[in-house]
Amino acid sequence: MSQVLFPLSDEHRMIQDTARDFASRAIAPIAAQFDESGEFPHDTVKKMGEMGFMGVEVPEQYGGAGMDTLAYVLALEEISRADASHGVIMSVNNSLYCHGIQKFGTEAQKERFLRPVASGQSIGAYALTEPMSGSDAGTMRSRAVREGDSYRLNGRKSWVTSGPVAEYVLTFMATNPDLKQKGVSAFLIDTKNAPGFSRGKKEPKLGIRASCTSELLFEDCRIPADQRLGNEGEGFKIAMTVLDAGRIGISSQALGIAEAAYQASVLYAREREAFGQKIGQFQGIGFRIADMKTRIEAARLLTYNAAMAKERSKSAGGRYTLEASMAKLFASETAMFCAHAAIQIHGGMGYSRELPVERYFRDAKITEIYEGTSEIQRVVISRSELGVI
Ligand code: CAA
Repeated sequence: MSQVLFPLSDEHRMIQDTARDFASRAIAPIAAQFDESGEFPHDTVKKMGEMGFMGVEVPEQYGGAGMDTLAYVLALEEISRADASHGVIMSVNNSLYCHGIQKFGTEAQKERFLRPVASGQSIGAYALTEPMSGSDAGTMRSRAVREGDSYRLNGRKSWVTSGPVAEYVLTFMATNPDLKQKGVSAFLIDTKNAPGFSRGKKEPKLGIRASCTSELLFEDCRIPADQRLGNEGEGFKIAMTVLDAGRIGISSQALGIAEAAYQASVLYAREREAFGQKIGQFQGIGFRIADMKTRIEAARLLTYNAAMAKERSKSAGGRYTLEASMAKLFASETAMFCAHAAIQIHGGMGYSRELPVERYFRDAKITEIYEGTSEIQRVVISRSELGVI
């Protein structure tokens, strides 16, 4: 953490220290074991809830910690530095689930759907992607049909982070397919009270293996009409608004992975000897370390900049789409760059499952894919600059 580039307030430093201490004591020691087994880390996630990490920006009156976006990204970076699986569980819960309800929910929806998830008693998920609709999110096939005071939902959502364990889900369905993006609506699902809802196959994944991911199935699933979030036809904008926040979360996760790979590399380069000297004394290694450090600092500044843009938007309104996409693009590619370099610096030991470096490499890759691939971030950034978004 470079204090020269970015001085933190006492409050921000406190949440950073608290998250770092918890992550190094409680998460880092179990990360390899949960990565290996692919089990969901219920106990540590519960503790994260008790510490306020599952609803960092949610006001205390709705069960959250009532802190700002910078506090959120600082905590998330520290959690992800210990384990990216815990990082994405935290990110989706905060940014993709809680943020959507906080911003678009009615009072009654906040009481019922926000409080239990922001306080960490239950887990929330976000279900947008479908087997035939990923980057082109507006072409979804899931349908919601209004029938009196309820909606009948049919469809299949895929790649849902925390899908197997989430008690509450924010999902998106076409209510008027002819209108494409303008015919999408958002719905809140209480999975205990949603006949016709079920969980589909779990994804066997390359990385973030302790964060479980699955399909969610809706077969004539009937929910009360008051579980629609926002107006009919507003769903696509809600999905995109929420993803802007989500992308700041993934930037922070990527930053944590990059930092972990970097720190492991520095330690190894200082200790490992070859040809009669520490390998860090070779220019080839030293220059890699310099490139890693420089990119991490740049990614950090973009992430904090996006966090502050989101914070400003709370009072001044407006979007922070550009800042979030630039941060996500650069931080995720930095995570991949650093994890790749870390393996090369470690040589054979980097390829071994005895060290966490190979896990950083497997975990880094997803940050360039989910919540909008690097290609989609470039689409968003270029459209913004060229004036076509
Ligand atoms: N905020 C608010 N509104 C937005 C917006 C944003 N960030 N982005 C677009 N919109 C609005 C537009 O203004 C437009 O509205 P108007 O017509 O009224 O102006 C409307 O939405 C449609 O916008 P576009 O024409 O730009 O839509 P598009 O179909 O071309 O799609 C896209 C744009 C950027 C490519 C978008 O589809 C996208 O982001 N795709 C990637 C989806 C994604 O990230 N999926 C990840 C799912 S979550 C996940 O990864 C799993 C997990 O659990 C972690």
